[in-house]
Amino acid sequence: MSRFSFLIACVAALASTSGCSIAQRMSAPSEIDELKRQYARPSEIPFPPDNPYSEEKRVLGKALFFDPRLSKNGTISCASCHNPALGWEDGLAVGRGHRSNELARHSSTILDIAWAAALFWDGRADSLEAQALVPLLGDAEMGMDEETVLARIKATRGYAPMFAAAFPGKPVSLATVAQALATFERTVVSSEAPFDRWVEGDERAIGDDAKRGFITFNTKANCAVCHSSWRFTNDGFQDIGLPGDDKGRGAEVSDVAELQHAFKSPTLRNISRRAPYMHDGSLPTLDAVIRHYENGFIRRESLSPDIHPFTLSDEERADLIAFLMTLTSDDPSTTIPVLPQ
Ligand code: HEC
Ligand code: HEC
Repeated sequence: MSRFSFLIACVAALASTSGCSIAQRMSAPSEIDELKRQYARPSEIPFPPDNPYSEEKRVLGKALFFDPRLSKNGTISCASCHNPALGWEDGLAVGRGHRSNELARHSSTILDIAWAAALFWDGRADSLEAQALVPLLGDAEMGMDEETVLARIKATRGYAPMFAAAFPGKPVSLATVAQALATFERTVVSSEAPFDRWVEGDERAIGDDAKRGFITFNTKANCAVCHSSWRFTNDGFQDIGLPGDDKGRGAEVSDVAELQHAFKSPTLRNISRRAPYMHDGSLPTLDAVIRHYENGFIRRESLSPDIHPFTLSDEERADLIAFLMTLTSDDPSTTIPVLPQ
């Protein structure tokens, strides 16, 4: 018998006329504890064997991440679109490149990115090292070419000892730039949020509304099918029925019908700091996101079979939002590095 039999019975009851009251659902503590365990945080950051952590690499990577000299006209850095004060995003619907041009998609967060299986909304990069060179050399983003990036870095004398310490005996190259950036990015990890303290056993860490919202998230609203584990993502690609011509993963894997309009399920960590939402930045609030899932999606062949209409009462919707708010951690503010001269 399923360990979640009570919750599952509850979902079945919800689908029928008999209903299943929240009080009833919350009275199955062992099953809720079991569910909570699926969201326990890991204790270590995974670094790949071919780019192990070193403090020197992290410090160098952080400087490069914040350095606008790495863009063609010297005005934007990685941090312009991945701003720590805006949940490592930019608060815009879609990113803006070095010519103030609009990009095709919304800037993703780099929070907890060390654990991500594939990068970009469509998963087209498979490592942070490979990913980093895309915006750097991309005409729409930072507009650099290999020669200019390396010349700019070499002309900045302060970078020489930093590279020597991070990569002893290796030249300044796109490979070492990418390794340093990736090392810094892997250290951008969300701190413990109220939700985590509740998972660890502190019943007072979150309110009753958020506890009810957690159950709705895992049952009636079906969110946890895709937003699973401690980062609240299964790292998969799904079409959730947003309008638009962007084929997402489908442009990469064009022969798979279910991957048309499919995008990577984003983490929900610090979600309250990361509006607007979705690959196109089209949904301004969490309330709008939930209403989209309730019945705002487009029906088409590629729509995920896990997306189907449901109706929440105003209280249930408020509870679900209260739960999502508990995923925001009080991260220490990121100091902007003093750039080498
Ligand atoms: C002009 C804005 C802009 C700049 C500058 C920029 N990015 Fe991004 N970044 C984006 C956008 C937009 C996406 C999503 C693009 C997509 O998925 O097609 C993204 C995606 C990413 C991702 C993938 C996150 C995920 O969940 O898959 C990482 C990692 C990342 N950027 C790191 C960087 C690094 C490192 C730099 C500097 C070298 C950088 N970005 C510069 C806008 C920007
Ligand atoms: C079928 C899988 C699936 C289900 C079910 C699902 N999501 Fe999502 N979620 C996604 C995908 C995929 C995206 C990104 C879609 C896009 O941008 O096109 C997303 C995006 C989001 C975002 C925006 C994140 C960001 O960084 O912009 C939020 C918030 C969210 N989902 C919350 C929820 C909630 C709450 C529920 C339950 C009511 C839910 N999701 C159900 C797959 C799913």
